[in-house]
Amino acid sequence: MKKSRAWKVLWGGVLTAGVCVSSLIGVTQANEPRVVEFTQAEISRILSHGPWPMSWTPDVTNRVSGNTHAVDLGERLFFDEKLSVKENVSCGTCHIAEYNWTDGVKRNKGQAMVDRNTPTLMNMRHHRWFALDGAADSLWAQSMRPIVDPRELASNAAHVAQYLRRDADLSCRYEKTFGVSPAKQDDEAVLVGVGKVMAAFQETLVTEFTPFDTFRDALARGDRATAALYPREARRGLKIFIGKGNCSTCHTGPMFTNGEFHDIGVSHFIDGDSKKVDGGRHDGIKKLTASKFNLLGPYNDDATRASATKTTHVKPEHRNFGEFKVPSLRNVGYTGPYMHSGEMLSLNDVVRHYSELNVDRLHADGESLLKPLKLTAQESADLVAFLQTLNMDRAPPWRGKEYAHPPCLLGAKSAADAHYAP
Ligand code: HEC
Ligand code: HEC
Repeated sequence: MKKSRAWKVLWGGVLTAGVCVSSLIGVTQANEPRVVEFTQAEISRILSHGPWPMSWTPDVTNRVSGNTHAVDLGERLFFDEKLSVKENVSCGTCHIAEYNWTDGVKRNKGQAMVDRNTPTLMNMRHHRWFALDGAADSLWAQSMRPIVDPRELASNAAHVAQYLRRDADLSCRYEKTFGVSPAKQDDEAVLVGVGKVMAAFQETLVTEFTPFDTFRDALARGDRATAALYPREARRGLKIFIGKGNCSTCHTGPMFTNGEFHDIGVSHFIDGDSKKVDGGRHDGIKKLTASKFNLLGPYNDDATRASATKTTHVKPEHRNFGEFKVPSLRNVGYTGPYMHSGEMLSLNDVVRHYSELNVDRLHADGESLLKPLKLTAQESADLVAFLQTLNMDRAPPWRGKEYAHPPCLLGAKSAADAHYAP
């Protein structure tokens, strides 16, 4: 059977079945150069990394999730240095919008140097555990931690609550959001409220469509012409990613992460100092279970407590040492330096790590998922080319709307009400 005829037959199959059933890219016209082939199994794996964006419903543990007043107040406070006692550090010091909500440095400083690389805040609303060691089980609880961490904002509940109570505009916004003035709540409740509005703001940070998504959707609908525009080296890299590289075992789904924790043999020592060990997930679980602000605690707004089930089940086990959260790879071109330690400067370095993996570094209990890939120079370049197609078309995003909030008026429907309206 000639290739062009094979193509027609397949195309007919696609139309009849109404879904993509063939290795579209593998089938070429007689006069076209052959491009990378994908098997049926590979195509289903590729399709599993979409569609994008993912659907989302507000966080049931946070009663102001999705509330436009909360988003408005959360955005203000996110950039407000007055929350810190020294009035010199805000969340925006390390999570910089123009840097894809990270900072481009290995590690950053608030009042002092922190131990880990700053992760991006993009797509946080789709995470299950927060911080690289999973020390928080909600976005709002995670947002409170840097406020009181002595190395970050170094603040406390009393300072935060007083600041909101004394500032008429912030008090007004707080009351619009929660229906109660910060003056009528205790300090701790106001601190939790601040965590919740900051979470509502961060939930609006979502990455846009990427060249990979265009390719993936073209495969899904059998649009061969569009699929063919996806660069050949990226296709070869994608084949490694879902195939012999085993990458998609942990970097799964539309977010390119399974949301869980693994040891991939990155050094556990902070600054190469063998006395300063980052315990990773093991320490994270201890912090999570000890926290009064976890989902089992009094501030979870989900009356059913169904949201807390996973938290009930986590226990620190020996294998959790050296495990870190699997990062999402969306916009990965903009999240360097890489890994919890920020020790890898480029995606080439990351691919080299997986290629030359030192299995002795993997934790004793072992990670059967990883072995040195021994990639050729061409394969490594292809894998990087694929990873770069997970970046948004538009270089690091901005919020779209200017940071200019109309004044808040209680009781009246003010311009602030319309500010975040769709
Ligand atoms: C000094 C720099 C710095 C400042 C200031 C800072 N962060 Fe972070 N942020 C980090 C680092 C480093 C981590 C990783 C922490 C960890 O793994 O324990 C992080 C983690 C996070 C995460 C979890 C990300 C994930 O992938 O799970 C969220 C959410 C977050 N920060 C929000 C905030 C908010 C809100 C503020 C302000 C109240 C803030 N950050 C202030 C550096 C900073
Ligand atoms: C066993 C699960 C697992 C497998 C398999 C895996 N990864 Fe990872 N990946 C992780 C974890 C965990 C981290 C974060 C480690 C850390 O912070 O120290 C990570 C980090 C990364 C990062 C850095 C992202 C960032 O923002 O810092 C990239 C890029 C990456 N992986 C790509 C790949 C590629 C490409 C493959 C296949 C060759 C792969 N991963 C295979 C679990 C995995």
